[in-house]
Amino acid sequence: MALGEGTDTAIAPPLALLAELTHRCPLRCPYCSNPLALEGASHELATADWQRILREAAALGVLQVHFSGGEPLARRDIVALVAHAAAASLYTNLITSGVLLDQAKMAALAAAGLDHVQLSVQDTDPANADRIAGLDDAHEKKLAAAALVRAAGLPLTLNAVMHRQNLHHLPDVIELALRLGAQRLEVAHVQYYGWALANRRALFPTYEALARATEIVAAARERWKGVLAIDYVVPDYYARRPKACMGGWARQFINVSPAGTALPCHAAETLPGFAWPSLLTTSLDDAWYRSEAFNRYRGTGWMPEPCRSCERREIDWGGCRCQAFAFTGDAARTDPACALAPDRPVLDAARQDALAPAADFVYRQIGAAPARAGVTSDR
Ligand code: SF4
Ligand code: FES
Repeated sequence: MALGEGTDTAIAPPLALLAELTHRCPLRCPYCSNPLALEGASHELATADWQRILREAAALGVLQVHFSGGEPLARRDIVALVAHAAAASLYTNLITSGVLLDQAKMAALAAAGLDHVQLSVQDTDPANADRIAGLDDAHEKKLAAAALVRAAGLPLTLNAVMHRQNLHHLPDVIELALRLGAQRLEVAHVQYYGWALANRRALFPTYEALARATEIVAAARERWKGVLAIDYVVPDYYARRPKACMGGWARQFINVSPAGTALPCHAAETLPGFAWPSLLTTSLDDAWYRSEAFNRYRGTGWMPEPCRSCERREIDWGGCRCQAFAFTGDAARTDPACALAPDRPVLDAARQDALAPAADFVYRQIGAAPARAGVTSDR
């Protein structure tokens, strides 16, 4: 344990490294968690930089590395990076859309020591899934990718991001996870940052649809206990208390952007006034323990009321700093997802706006004007 500057809390090493290898991706999902300002390939870290970061992570005490993006399979060195992480005794997880996975790549990844694959699906209806992904035949390729993962003997998690335009297929998503042999299913309602915020009116579900989904998940958890574990993430806009975003600011996860910026969460780069450490010039150890940016919202010392005297302050850590900033212009406010927050009316107004008639998608893309496509709604 070490003691960080600017906080009274003993700091444990991060549990996991989220390695965002690239923002390149063949898919164009309108809820992508990447920032609106996507990095082009020319800004990506070199293989040797990532390998050094993986060694530093293992030395720091990190246990797991999640290779993410964009699409991590878009990096030609993905097999070498998995092998390097495995050699450093890190548990390796590949978070992928699956559309670039073929038999040869799967065999190479398994031989390199890959431990786990997390595969995203957009829907169970192929046409709607492809429309949401913004790529023809994406769904079919994902099904093939799931079969390759299972044939390689690797555990599979299915990640289903749910929203207004696919929530009516939730029972089929659960069936699909079972059919594909997944051990875990993440039913994750969209969280409204970045691209998802730009698409809020196309994606936000009604309260009734959310309540139905919650019942379906509860029943499926009971029915498939021991066969399929189901994680469930609800949208903040209907919450009474916020989630402990990232398990608390700079407590469990360290995120590294494609260009090598160390961050406490994927969205933190949108916050102004931070000097985020570059891992081209700063070690992971220094970034985690000693950078001002990582220490600013650690622990409870920074908290305003009502968090400061709240019994949940070390449970949810005052919620999400990025959401507090997005709603109030001040990342040090209580997350308006908390019903006790002075800024709660701002979130209530946003919820009303989000329930307006569905708008067209703004598809994710690097460095070009947003494209739009027609939408349907199950409301
Ligand atoms: Fe969490 Fe702060 Fe709300 Fe208490 S007041 S529940 S600590 S966000
Ligand atoms: Fe940044 Fe929640 S997304 S703290």
